[in-house]
Amino acid sequence: TLSLSELQAYLKDLGAPIPIPAFPSAEPIHNPNDIYRSYIAAALETLVDCDRLLLNESLQKPSTASKGDLVLVLPRLRLKGVKPSDLAAELALKFPALSLVNPPLPLDNYLQFFYSHKALPRLLLPYISERGNFYGKRCSPTTDGLNNKRKKAIIEFSSPNIAKEFHAGHLRSIILGAFLANLYESMGWDVVRVNYLGDWGKQFGLLAVGWDKYGSEEQLGAQPLRHLLDVYVRISAEFRPEEEARARARDNGRPDMVAEIESRGLFAQRNAFFKRMEDGDEAALALWRRFRDISIDRYVDVYARLGVGFDVYTGESQVDPATVATVEAALKERGVLEEYQGSWVICFDKHGAKGLGTAVLRGRTGTTTYLLRDVAAVLDRAKQYSFDEMIYVVSSEQDSYFQRVFKTAELMGRPDLAAKLRHVNFGKVTGMSSRLGNVKLLNDILDTCASAMHRVMRANATKYAQVSDPDAIADTVGIAAVMVQDMSGKRINNYPFDINRMTSFEGDTGPYLQYCHARLASVARKAKEAGIDPAAVGGDGGSGDIDYSHLEDDHSAALLRLMGQYPDVVGMAFKNLEPSTILTYLFRLARQLSSSYDVLRVTGAPGGPGVALARAALYENARQVLGNGMRLLGIRPVDR
Ligand code: ARG
Repeated sequence: TLSLSELQAYLKDLGAPIPIPAFPSAEPIHNPNDIYRSYIAAALETLVDCDRLLLNESLQKPSTASKGDLVLVLPRLRLKGVKPSDLAAELALKFPALSLVNPPLPLDNYLQFFYSHKALPRLLLPYISERGNFYGKRCSPTTDGLNNKRKKAIIEFSSPNIAKEFHAGHLRSIILGAFLANLYESMGWDVVRVNYLGDWGKQFGLLAVGWDKYGSEEQLGAQPLRHLLDVYVRISAEFRPEEEARARARDNGRPDMVAEIESRGLFAQRNAFFKRMEDGDEAALALWRRFRDISIDRYVDVYARLGVGFDVYTGESQVDPATVATVEAALKERGVLEEYQGSWVICFDKHGAKGLGTAVLRGRTGTTTYLLRDVAAVLDRAKQYSFDEMIYVVSSEQDSYFQRVFKTAELMGRPDLAAKLRHVNFGKVTGMSSRLGNVKLLNDILDTCASAMHRVMRANATKYAQVSDPDAIADTVGIAAVMVQDMSGKRINNYPFDINRMTSFEGDTGPYLQYCHARLASVARKAKEAGIDPAAVGGDGGSGDIDYSHLEDDHSAALLRLMGQYPDVVGMAFKNLEPSTILTYLFRLARQLSSSYDVLRVTGAPGGPGVALARAALYENARQVLGNGMRLLGIRPVDR
């Protein structure tokens, strides 16, 4: 780790005045850009009559690196009686010499700052290597201003339905949710990872009816998830005609026929079983519990394959009936919950939520609905965790559903809680079932990707021969392939599942990212073999060995400038909750690296061992940044 005194020592060596000028929002030990911003703002303070915090905030990252590392956006200062462009020219003339940045340049309404190539390696290499795996993570917990308590976020993701198909939506939810959980932790939050299983409801009644007819203990023991899915698919097919008849009756405005259909056949059996569950019938609950436990056991393994773990497996079944009663009472008392043809409903249109329609909270047979359970779960979790924010990572198909959940929490008199809830949505993956055929479980999806990856790897026989455990690597890289494809675009966009493209080593793919990481690891291995230890940077006496003057060229600087941006990029992703923000950055870093190897050679570099050591240190720190970004996204970097 990096201490403030170590950092000050590096800065002092660079000729920068100590201590670093303080700004409330600046975290010099977390973000190198904050160091630059602090020094520049402090210098500007002596030249412009303007609030120093505003000066600091008005130093922004330009759209492209060619426009500078930071620009002062003069119109933001809102100074009266001065033309921003005149002021830019004037400031450029008067700006004092700073060792960290070159003299600034005026450009229209901006003042451009470029980081000094001399200072970059001297500051950033020891900085990044001291921060190590923590580079990009905040050092201090994020607390609420009132009582200094660390902020807590509940991130609910994946949440599959027991015995139902594991679809692409659940996969996207895992990938995005795991990333968000890492991201919140990086930003100093306390995070609870919650899996809210679809383990209650009428479909469970239907599964029980199906189990009676088609269940096999033997198959359940061998392949529980597959067998439960098979049973559910079979009984659902049988049930479909009844469901369709009911839908027709409802559309024709025939509640009498709806009731009639529900009173017989599989309909009646399904509803009766679920009613027994809700009434606490021990035999019904025992079967339900068994299916649930077996499923969770398997889920744990499958998630582990993705490197994901949950703090809690809860689910629709775990909602406290007493809380459900509290919700209903509060809503009735406020005149929000009303009876309609034997059900209890909310007409959102009547309560200032036009467009949300009418929703059932308790059905005709007296059982709870998905919506009622979700609202009660909000209260349960507030009591159990007292969270500051709760994020639901669910597909955009449930956009209006979550608006209903949040609105209901508000209508029952808890606007305070409703304000903490957030639906982070995402678009569809198209063509997965048509391309992968009869793939219905998460493991099937991952197996398919791993074997496609294995085929691509085999195509390069020489490299393939160097991989000691090709099965494991194919799995890890195949998973990176799926993840990167999933996180490349804005999350709201739909994207086509394309196994050929995602497993390619060319283009912005997971394999390309893994390749870049492995290549950097190989650079380090080869350097070590040649007697060069790039880990010698910074730390206890190591930094003295490196001659940073070998890293002042444009190529090294371009790489370093990018490496220094990483904490800001994480901060940006925390604002928009878009993994693509991180990925775009990592690909920029990867491409910059790819174009560096020929120019900045390590072993056999002209200039001798001094140059080789400096460059090896540069690459080793680039590997650290690349790896940190990959891990933040949930990708396990490979070394070979
Ligand atoms: N089990 C649901 C589904 O598969 C997702 C659950 C989302 N979370 C929630 N709190 N409703 O569609």
